[in-house]
Amino acid sequence: MTTYDRIGATYATTRRPDPRITAQIHAALGDAVSVINVGAGSGSYEPPQTVLAVEPSAVMIAQRPPDSAPAIQASAEAIPVEDDAADAVMALLTVHHWSDLESGIAELRRIARRRVVVFTWDQTVTRTFWLLDEYLPEVIAFDDERAVPVDRLAALLGGARVEEVPVPHDCTDGFGAAFWRRPEAYLDPTVRAGISMLAQSGEDAIRPGLARLADDLASGVWHERHADLLGRDTFDGGYRLVIADL
Ligand SMILES: C[S@@+](CC[C@H](N)C(=O)[O-])C[C@H]1O[C@@H](n2cnc3c(N)ncnc32)[C@H](O)[C@@H]1O
Repeated sequence: MTTYDRIGATYATTRRPDPRITAQIHAALGDAVSVINVGAGSGSYEPPQTVLAVEPSAVMIAQRPPDSAPAIQASAEAIPVEDDAADAVMALLTVHHWSDLESGIAELRRIARRRVVVFTWDQTVTRTFWLLDEYLPEVIAFDDERAVPVDRLAALLGGARVEEVPVPHDCTDGFGAAFWRRPEAYLDPTVRAGISMLAQSGEDAIRPGLARLADDLASGVWHERHADLLGRDTFDGGYRLVIADL
């Protein structure tokens, strides 16, 4: 059983692709006429020219829309696909789950003809996000271990450019920092189930921090402390696109 066979059952409910992030990812794919999505999950952000999805979790594959590209159950570290199989390969919010990053990135470069697009986060920025910094330091420790430094990723890709992915205040993809202006959402167990840093840290570890958040929301302390956020439309939660031309 893979991690996402265990934690991925509600993914299609809370992790709907955000249209603004979709536009940025599709622009990063450039004029590719064929795309392979590795660590594809339920198929978020796949452009119409997607020819194949690669995903190890059967639970995630089962959540793919019926009309989406064919999926094979496989891991990034060993992709059963020929060299140069598609113009572009994308790997979105997945590299931090891989057991062997170097092999996985080498596989992306092998099966892509022209471009690789990786959506990830810069932990040096994300660890300052209020939820983690003020309430859940144990989750910072968890992500410090698994986060992939953007510089390392770029080096493994043989050089890359990096774009910030701003998080809209009403982001429909409920990833870690998506609810930066909607703090009550983090008190919802269904929302937390779709955020791997919270689901994998475990409820026991995060319960005290969430109780403090609930208190600060009820007393108005959170809103006082974060009044600056309430007037903003987007936020830098550390999310980045790493784009490599081969
Ligand atoms: C946070 S989800 C992202 C899914 C999708 N790319 C998206 O953006 O919604 C992470 C995905 O990576 C997959 N994954 C975990 N380990 C993997 C590996 N070694 N190779 C490829 N995918 C992996 C998980 O099963 C899960 O579907």
